[in-house]
Amino acid sequence: MDKLQITGGRPLEGEVRISGAKNATLPILAAALLADGPVTISNVPHLQDVTTMIELLGRMGVSVTVDERMRIEVDPTTIREYFAPYELVKTMRASILVLGPLLARYGHADVSLPGGCAIGARPVNIHVAGLQSMGADIHIENGYIKARAGRLKGTRLVLDTVTVTGTENLMMAATLADGETVIENAAREPEVVDLANFLLAMGAKIRGAGTDRIIVQGVEKLQGCEYEVLPDRIETGTFLVAGAITRGHVRVKNTCPEHLDAVLLKLQESGAKIGQGENWIEIDMRGKRPKSIDVRTAPYPAFPTDMQAQFAALDAVADGVGTIIETVFENRFMHMLEMRRMGAEIRLEGNTAIIKGVQRLTAAPVMATDLRASASLVLAGLVAEGRTEIERIYHIDRGYESIEEKLSGLGAQIRRVPN
Ligand code: EPU
Repeated sequence: MDKLQITGGRPLEGEVRISGAKNATLPILAAALLADGPVTISNVPHLQDVTTMIELLGRMGVSVTVDERMRIEVDPTTIREYFAPYELVKTMRASILVLGPLLARYGHADVSLPGGCAIGARPVNIHVAGLQSMGADIHIENGYIKARAGRLKGTRLVLDTVTVTGTENLMMAATLADGETVIENAAREPEVVDLANFLLAMGAKIRGAGTDRIIVQGVEKLQGCEYEVLPDRIETGTFLVAGAITRGHVRVKNTCPEHLDAVLLKLQESGAKIGQGENWIEIDMRGKRPKSIDVRTAPYPAFPTDMQAQFAALDAVADGVGTIIETVFENRFMHMLEMRRMGAEIRLEGNTAIIKGVQRLTAAPVMATDLRASASLVLAGLVAEGRTEIERIYHIDRGYESIEEKLSGLGAQIRRVPN
């Protein structure tokens, strides 16, 4: 298994192009199951999770073709099976996103229940309860969610917790239901809006995506379309923190600045100069040590849990004491323990991390435990004295396209080596 080797100490300088959003691509690929004809999706990031979703569709008999520019054509009309096996679901929880589309379009879905996860329990009870309220017959058998339905019926759903993929599953299911579905307490993430825009392009009737009340008027059928995925706001934020933590000067291109309000505010609080245009953001931290900042994660538009680990790395070398409170997932602090091994001064109390910035971190062998945790270890490695080696980097390949090439392009000393 490959490792990343990073020699810290260089301020990053230059431009980097942001890829399409992983967490928009995955539901959009699943939503293609709803169409009566082929869909073509562009700006798809080249990532392990995308490959897993393509494999999942392929196992069902769906025809998927990918060109060299990662434009993907999905033709769902060749589907033979309505089945998501454990061996794929266990490697990617987002596989649960096929549940709503399969049930709504084919009345039949056998989807493995996702198991435990490195960041929290992550149940899918809200997905299941929502579909049951729409008339589905669902039971759990041998570790599988076995769902059957005639045409689903529109209804009013009040989600217990704000859930991103839960909102997406129910919104997709509602597009082909009989009548109107109202989703209250819906997630407002830009990826939910991107999925809604894709569904609209297929002929769905949806209002309110981006607010906490989504209204879907069911239609008889959806047709194929062409669609371009929105840029990845978490990759964007990660490169901005890379600029800040290394006291560098970085411009990210092909992004959507309006999706990063909470993150940009925190970077400004840490002392960074931020410039932005329609599709770019620039960060300048040259000659300055970042100041500690406090962060509390919560659903969009508040500060994203997917940026928490990266800001923990920033606080680890910042001037002062920063407090990080994680409210979305109950066990998303594994990176803190690895960063301590690099000399970070971090105290953990329940869902709160109190981080006293040190002058410098020191390189150590560390282990990636989940996607964003691995990103934070890369960031820590960029400023640590000596050569950091990060193991289990398959986590990072799930969500960051060509991370070592992109960072090298900004002047980082980073390379991938076989273990
Ligand atoms: N929850 C329930 N019941 C449910 C669903 C969720 O209790 O049926 C709880 C979860 O346990 C969690 C909270 O609700 O405590 C929020 O979880 P959510 O369902 O929103 O998370 P998700 O949809 O499984 C997506 C992203 C994650 C991101 C979270 C939060 C995708 C494919 N994944 O997960 O992305 O952290 O929303 O923003 O969109 C990542 O990219 O690294 C990643 C983990």
